[in-house]
Amino acid sequence: MLSLASMIQHVLIAVDGSPSSHHAANQGFGLARQTGAKVTLAFVLESPPVIPVGPLSGYVMTSPPRTDADLEKARAELKTLAHDAGVPVETRVELGAPADVLCELAERLSVDLLVIGARGLSTGTRWLLGSVSDRVVHHAPCPVLVVRDRKR
Ligand SMILES: Nc1ncnc2c1ncn2[C@@H]1O[C@H](COP(=O)(O)OP(=O)(O)O)[C@@H](O)[C@H]1O
Ligand SMILES: [Mg+2]
Repeated sequence: MLSLASMIQHVLIAVDGSPSSHHAANQGFGLARQTGAKVTLAFVLESPPVIPVGPLSGYVMTSPPRTDADLEKARAELKTLAHDAGVPVETRVELGAPADVLCELAERLSVDLLVIGARGLSTGTRWLLGSVSDRVVHHAPCPVLVVRDRKR
């Protein structure tokens, strides 16, 4: 029988700054400590969607574009989380559509497991899964661990 340690050698953990994603990260670290897996932490800065407003007039941004401050904040957050992981951690901040970028990264890095929180930063409570975790579960090229935080 395959041991868990031989099955899980590289874990990708998705962090968006939410308490739910921090909880997921800690669960992922625990799993990595027990399997000896290395960890990649990824924070995706969402590129603002643009709406075409006509053939000649161009586009309207639906939210402000990402700034260097956003990038620094994301980097700092990953660094803080990585500090206490107790396993080798690589951190990366990417730009794009979060679920798609996470799935591409999982493929590119050939990770054995992708760990995400059930919910993120949005305040809606209507759904059990956020839109990013929902899309990742459907499209990931590898097993996905969706960490639900019972306290939330
Ligand atoms: N931009 C992102 N970068 C990295 N991980 C993300 C990002 N957005 C969401 N996630 C991951 O997906 C989980 C669920 O978030 P999401 O689906 O966005 O829920 P919500 O709709 O409540 O915001 C988060 O806990 C986090 O692990
Ligand atoms: Mg979200």
